[in-house]
Amino acid sequence: MEILVTGGAGYIGSHTCVELLEKGCDVVVVDNFDNSSPRSIERVEQITGKKVSLYKADVRDRAAMDKVFTEHAIDYVIHFAGLKAVGESCVKPLEYYDNNLYGTLVLLETMRAHGCKKIVFSSSATVYGTPERLPLDETCRTGGTTNPYGTSKYFQEIMLRDLYAADSEWTVVLLRYFNPVGAHESGLIGEDPQGIPNNLTPFIAKVAIGELKEIGVFGNDYDTPDGTGVRDYIHVVDLAKGHVAAIEKLNKPGVYTYNLGTGVGYSVLDVIRAFEKACGKKLPYVIKPRRAGDIAACYADASKAERELGWKAELGIDDMCASLWKWQSKNPKGYKS
Ligand code: NAD
Ligand code: UFG
Repeated sequence: MEILVTGGAGYIGSHTCVELLEKGCDVVVVDNFDNSSPRSIERVEQITGKKVSLYKADVRDRAAMDKVFTEHAIDYVIHFAGLKAVGESCVKPLEYYDNNLYGTLVLLETMRAHGCKKIVFSSSATVYGTPERLPLDETCRTGGTTNPYGTSKYFQEIMLRDLYAADSEWTVVLLRYFNPVGAHESGLIGEDPQGIPNNLTPFIAKVAIGELKEIGVFGNDYDTPDGTGVRDYIHVVDLAKGHVAAIEKLNKPGVYTYNLGTGVGYSVLDVIRAFEKACGKKLPYVIKPRRAGDIAACYADASKAERELGWKAELGIDDMCASLWKWQSKNPKGYKS
């Protein structure tokens, strides 16, 4: 099976390429390297001993996308390419809508022109906005998103549903990720944020290697067991395997929606403690005001994916922290190390 992975050089994409190659799939990657390095693909090849067909291209570039589909008989597309920083999306909404919405539009039009009608889309727990209830299952209300990034994910889900409504030959898989963290066990690939990380675990990792002074804990007055924000952290390798399970199982047209999470919520302080265990040192933190737009708690009911895809997250918070620590300490400057 030949799979096109857009954004395949990125954090989740590179881990998914490893799992696909290890299952014997042929992998084609399109990435413009706006938020990644071609080195990640070299490392994917090193881990698996297999080659990736790599195109440096933007998914909004029709001619480049047409070339990819002309040169390869793509069976399934996994669409990761896009911009993903919540805060930045509030400052640059047009850039986010252009990349995420227009990019998806060009991709879908190219797929249709080449008769490829199977897509897995990277959605996010953010489409649930403020959770209607916890744990979040796939029937919970979506929308009410609070930033352009989240709104773009919500709109892309609608675009894909409308496409299936108009042409029932499409297979559309919407995977709503909770909080992906950790790295491949080899320590060769991992998350490589540019500048000061926005997300909790890369920030903690940078404090652990001494690049940043202390962790800021955004609020300790939430209605949660210790007052700090609770999230459903999922190991990126488990997440990557969820994509393979979807591709293997879903070959009948339809729209399929799954939460990919563990079903377990950890607080910010839980994560700091788990990371201290992984790196063997005490990590300084200070309590700061709440971050605008944050919610108190968010965790999944991931049982639908288990029932229908036979997929379940296997790795826990200690594996997530240990693998992140291995990646960070082996590659203190990420792919520039
Ligand atoms: P990432 O930034 O590491 O990967 C995205 C990749 O897409 C990068 O390699 C980037 O260079 C590439 N890219 C961006 N715009 C492109 C374009 N127009 N054309 C070609 N390539 C382009 O991000 P990630 O964490 O791996 O996220 C992958 C997907 O999963 C994104 O769609 C993101 O919104 C979604 N997602 C991520 C999280 C998370 O917390 N990491 C959570 C939920 C959903
Ligand atoms: N946090 C801190 N200090 C930090 C960073 C984060 O205390 O320096 C806290 C946040 O307040 C929150 C928790 O750690 O309670 C997790 O925050 P992240 O920024 O790591 O993740 P979010 O839950 O805000 O969002 C992430 C991605 C989104 C995605 C969402 C899916 O950034 O793109 O997960 O659930 F949509």
